Amino acid sequence: MGKASKDKRDIYYRKAKEEGWRARSAFKLLQIDEEFDIFRGVKRAVDLCAAPGSWSQVLSRKLYVPAKSSPESRDGDLPLIVAIDLQPMAPIDGVIQVQGDITNARTAEVVIKHFDGCKADLVVCDGAPDVTGLHDMDEFVQSQLILAALTIVTHVLRVGGKFVAKIFRGKDTSLLYSQLKLFFPNVTFAKPKSSRNSSIEAFAVCENYSPPEGFNQKDLYHLLEKVGTPCGSDNLDCSSGWLEGANKVYIPFLACGDLNGYDSDRSYPLPSSVNGSSYQSLDPVQPPIAPPYKTAIELKKASSHEYLRGATSKVQPLAEAFRLVLENRRNTFTTLLPTRHKNLMGDDAPFPLEPKPLPISLSFLGVIEPTSELYMKDIIGFS
Ligand SMILES: C[S@@+](CC[C@H](N)C(=O)[O-])C[C@H]1O[C@@H](n2cnc3c(N)ncnc32)[C@H](O)[C@@H]1O
Repeated sequence: MGKASKDKRDIYYRKAKEEGWRARSAFKLLQIDEEFDIFRGVKRAVDLCAAPGSWSQVLSRKLYVPAKSSPESRDGDLPLIVAIDLQPMAPIDGVIQVQGDITNARTAEVVIKHFDGCKADLVVCDGAPDVTGLHDMDEFVQSQLILAALTIVTHVLRVGGKFVAKIFRGKDTSLLYSQLKLFFPNVTFAKPKSSRNSSIEAFAVCENYSPPEGFNQKDLYHLLEKVGTPCGSDNLDCSSGWLEGANKVYIPFLACGDLNGYDSDRSYPLPSSVNGSSYQSLDPVQPPIAPPYKTAIELKKASSHEYLRGATSKVQPLAEAFRLVLENRRNTFTTLLPTRHKNLMGDDAPFPLEPKPLPISLSFLGVIEPTSELYMKDIIGFS
């Protein structure tokens, strides 16, 4: 699709370039804010999975820039924004960047260090693995990313703080909702107007962080696991066993953004002229510095699939596991994975033998690049 044609078909893509946003995703966060007022009182924020940086730009423009230009501003008093991604990104005013994997315990440590003993008021996470188009698979990997984000949240978010995370709607949505409810009394799943109806993405807007009494971060896995077991957890009122039948939870879903505003699923004609000159399609504001597809292509060229086809002892069971996910045989999925692993706290822990909603990313096993679409596809097609 050419730039001008994309400008017609995707109004938010066009508007993002006109308004200087690096990605159309900026509008999603802005529309969530219109509904939930998420930036009110925020002095410290974390942007997880931030590249190419449009959400960090929103944080900068909403928090840092106004404070910086205020006559009363003092350097030590300016909002602190920390952004993390696997990919590097071009600098943004007032945003500290960390390149790292959010499923890695060391990344959480780096973020905590930046806050120097203070806690964040807001954590946002727009993380997405490269989408394979296989909804089950995408939803599963996405939920692992959110749970990794939740681990960071339990370390850096202040009581009363907010957490916004991208989710993929699917059959595990109720489970994820119940897990988030353990920590936030108000959880709403929101669909901003700029997010296409055809996309399974939505956003969990979690307000008023209130971890269970006596909560210890080391117990996170255990707590989340309890929500996902048939008996549920005995002393938590969001417990609903397998969340099926009579136990099924009602999830508040909300469309947000000006409903009379632009519709992301519609085409809009291009303006015939702008300031008296004929319309010129604009270039993207900031092309990615090191897009993951480049690495994937290079690796593919270099190895001619040796990496995948070389019967690496770790890759082969994963390939089989992916195939089983495709066949909806989730029960068998985790039994193919190693029996022990290092969890997010860096401790040696047993790998779950049952499919459980634990914050363990496949990349965590160190055998796949989480953002490599080629790898995902190749692994799925592995024979
Ligand atoms: C949809 S993009 C984020 C867009 C961003 N919010 C913006 O507005 O520009 C998803 C990002 O998630 C990142 N990502 C995926 N898995 C990750 C992980 N395990 N750790 C850190 N970042 C990750 C990808 O590198 C990608 O940049």
